[in-house]
Amino acid sequence: MYHFILNGEKVVAKEDKRLLEYLREDANVTSVKNGCNGEGVCGACTILVNGRKLRACLLTTAKVEGKEVTTVEGLSEREKEIYTWAFAEAGAVQCGYCIPGMIISAKALLDKNLNPTNQEIKKAITGNLCRCTGYVKIEKAIELAAQ
Ligand code: FES
Repeated sequence: MYHFILNGEKVVAKEDKRLLEYLREDANVTSVKNGCNGEGVCGACTILVNGRKLRACLLTTAKVEGKEVTTVEGLSEREKEIYTWAFAEAGAVQCGYCIPGMIISAKALLDKNLNPTNQEIKKAITGNLCRCTGYVKIEKAIELAAQ
């Protein structure tokens, strides 16, 4: 049994398994995507663990024992409103598959720096692949969210 906090609630995983699968299949947290067969290269499964940006496909339930795991489902209502507005305003969403991971990367950045430069935004989403829009509109959305 592995105990941790998921989006503010205590949860128990019965077995040690890949965190990505636990989240999607056992906890019904479906914002976290498997975009690269869990090889750690696409960023679609990006989550925060104790505030640090990590990839759920490279973690296990045992590795997050006692820690705090946050996905976009765990954002505050205010944060959800801001990111929804900013991404819509910038026209940054097409298929949407990468967006939860992008938002987690944005949150990891904006929680520390509310006035990021474009270079800092670019760096923050370096590990998040988008195959539709390119990155300019996503960077714009993060700029808007920062305001
Ligand atoms: Fe692609 Fe985790 S599923 S990085």
